[in-house]
Amino acid sequence: MSQRPRRILAALSGLTAVGGVSACAAGNDQQSILNPAGEHADGVYVLWLWLLGLGTAVWIAVVAILVVAVMRRRRGSEDQTAEGSDGRAAATRGRPVAAVAVAGAAVPALIITGVAAYAVIVQRDIDVSGDDARPLVEVVGHQYWWEVVYPEEGVVSANEIHLPVGERVRVDVASDDVIHSFWVPELAGKIDMIPGTSNSLWLEAREPGVYWGQCAEYCGAQHARMRFVVVAHEPAEFDAWLAHNAQAPAAADPGQDGDDESLVARGRDVFMSSSCVYCHAIDGTPAVGREGPDLTHFASRHTLAAGTRPNDAENLSAWILDPQSIKPGALMPGTDIDDPEELAALIAYLESLE
Ligand code: CUA
Repeated sequence: MSQRPRRILAALSGLTAVGGVSACAAGNDQQSILNPAGEHADGVYVLWLWLLGLGTAVWIAVVAILVVAVMRRRRGSEDQTAEGSDGRAAATRGRPVAAVAVAGAAVPALIITGVAAYAVIVQRDIDVSGDDARPLVEVVGHQYWWEVVYPEEGVVSANEIHLPVGERVRVDVASDDVIHSFWVPELAGKIDMIPGTSNSLWLEAREPGVYWGQCAEYCGAQHARMRFVVVAHEPAEFDAWLAHNAQAPAAADPGQDGDDESLVARGRDVFMSSSCVYCHAIDGTPAVGREGPDLTHFASRHTLAAGTRPNDAENLSAWILDPQSIKPGALMPGTDIDDPEELAALIAYLESLE
């Protein structure tokens, strides 16, 4: 970001401290445009501040004029009752015409033109074409989860996007079913994910951290639970993450010889002999389903069911047995595993996929 927008940002930041606006943001700072953490989001934030500032100024002006008008009218009618109509009252009646022309047409036209021009400039600045952005990741929207692909490295994941800090990376988005919208409020504006076509935007995170994203286009019953996280790493750490994720996890295929009796090996057998394999893939195993999220490095992910619950053993077991009670309308059917030991083994296997 150049110096000028930075100064504007600093100057205008004070505005959000005023009024209840900051209170709204404080409730959920995981998804707030008021906490921009990248250049793309800065542009949207500053535009928003201008809209808020101008809107507030117009509102104050209109209310002030209204109050003055009511007071004058009351005084005028009192005068009339006291003295009867006179030439002065008639003269003031002509003035509002000019006032309406200026305040009602010229001023709004000026403000709207200015705001529109500024919005176009912001739009241009944050437009994809950031040609210098590194094409890094493709995200495909599904009801109700996110497929995440790093085509160059052959990494496939879900509901979690990793990127290096301080680098402008390009995200290409598409959809497999209905229209979704890709939105990481702290990093960038929204972009629609439309079946049959591809859109792009760029992201750049200033600081390492976890930033929440959300589907921003109503796409069905579980639209609200179509969330994801963006994890920004230091560049070296990111490279290591990418290299690690390009490999099959060590635990994916323990014991080929048939006499491995460990819990993880038993869990693998449960997985491979269940209906899981029709929809899910795990690199290095016979599971190559593509309907549902790829589970290759499942254990290293933060959440289950696209941000619905934290990824831990308890939630995972509830999710496997009865996903419809957690996310009604999700496409995953419940799994019939009556034997608690089989379930424990399956959980142990999935949790080993680091
Ligand atoms: Cu996907 Cu809303």
